[in-house]
Amino acid sequence: MKLVFLGPPGAGKGTLASLAKDAFGVVHISTGDIFRANIKNGTPLGLKVKAILDSGGLVSDETTIEIVKDRLMQADCKAGYLLDGFPRTVVQAEALATFEKLDSVVNFVLDENVIVSRLSGRRVCKACGTGFHLTAMPPQKPGTCDKCGGELIQRKDDEASSIQERLRVYAAQTEPLIHWYRTKGLLKDIDASPQPTEVLKELKKVLG
Ligand code: AP5
Ligand code: MG
Repeated sequence: MKLVFLGPPGAGKGTLASLAKDAFGVVHISTGDIFRANIKNGTPLGLKVKAILDSGGLVSDETTIEIVKDRLMQADCKAGYLLDGFPRTVVQAEALATFEKLDSVVNFVLDENVIVSRLSGRRVCKACGTGFHLTAMPPQKPGTCDKCGGELIQRKDDEASSIQERLRVYAAQTEPLIHWYRTKGLLKDIDASPQPTEVLKELKKVLG
């Protein structure tokens, strides 16, 4: 199965992808995770994109498309993949269509006030990247990852000023993709407000 998870920042794409990848036996590819790993490791790409991610802007289409194209050529993608956070512009979607044929695009639908509370309450493990939420999905021990015992931190782009910029960029650049994919008959809307296990059940239903 070749899938795209589309939706505003904080809608739960990453949380659902980590459940869906095992349920569907596909590889989870998050462009945001790829950029953050490069920043953490201080690679040339990481140095180039750090300020962009921190402020909530978008990395250039050219750079992002090249990374995804290379990643999709790797052998583990043959059995299927789930793209989380790509494409994010019409240019990226057009490029993807030239080298891949998608089965479905899942559109995560969520109210803006819930989005903001999910983003501002998100904490991620500094060591393994597992995501938590201060109230909705709290860790067993405050500030500590349930999985690996690592320290939980707040993403720089989850600070208030970057959240507003990400929502603005989403509305201007990414939201038009909803219409773009709908006209191609690929779009499946999903209510992202219930608990993750409920959203997964719904996802299995809509994807058949
Ligand atoms: P990226 O990492 O993709 O960020 P994003 O789209 O802003 O999405 P998030 O990761 O913030 O949200 P999510 O939907 O994954 O939500 P999550 O599951 O964590 O991209 C980061 C940056 O990289 C971009 O700003 C850009 O600079 C760059 N970039 C990436 N891709 C690019 C591209 N294609 N082109 C150009 N630039 C690109 O959940 C959020 C919170 O809610 C968590 O705390 C979680 O615990 C909680 N939660 C999740 N689901 C539920 C639920 N069902 N109920 C209750 N709480 C929930
Ligand atoms: Mg994410």
